[in-house]
Amino acid sequence: MSQRTLVLLKPDAVRRGLTGEIISRIERKAGWQITALELRNLDQETLELHYGEHKGKPFYEPLVAFMASGPVVALVVEGERVIEGVRALAGPTDPIAAAPGSIRGDFGVIVRENLIHASDSEESAEREMKIFFPGLA
Ligand code: PPS
Repeated sequence: MSQRTLVLLKPDAVRRGLTGEIISRIERKAGWQITALELRNLDQETLELHYGEHKGKPFYEPLVAFMASGPVVALVVEGERVIEGVRALAGPTDPIAAAPGSIRGDFGVIVRENLIHASDSEESAEREMKIFFPGLA
């Protein structure tokens, strides 16, 4: 089943020059396509919309501060089982628990700077795509 997902390459990925490597891993999956892509700085309003469900959790403030610390690359990726698939490429939230071969497992160490966000369901993908690419059909 073809799906769309919203992916953010976080400020650590941009700062460390890893966006090409990460995008390349996504592009090489058979049949997946990048259908929107933008480098941008995230303001507080956008971050509150995106991470609103986590407001009040201990990691919320540090997460939002980190996500505002530099530009991110926002992408929409389209293809077969892409929601589950990009999350599998990323690996689990904690990079130390992520297997080598995954993006977080290969490049990450601390939880906050875990390089990539990817929508976790079709509902999240629809909601998040509207935040980052309101012009998309
Ligand atoms: S939860 O509570 O299970 O829903 O949280 P989780 O899905 O693991 O994480 C939600 C997002 O918060 C980020 N996160 C953190 N950021 C900074 N510091 C700490 N300690 C931390 N723990 C979790 C996590 O990377 C998720 O962000 P996204 O952008 O969705 O990856």
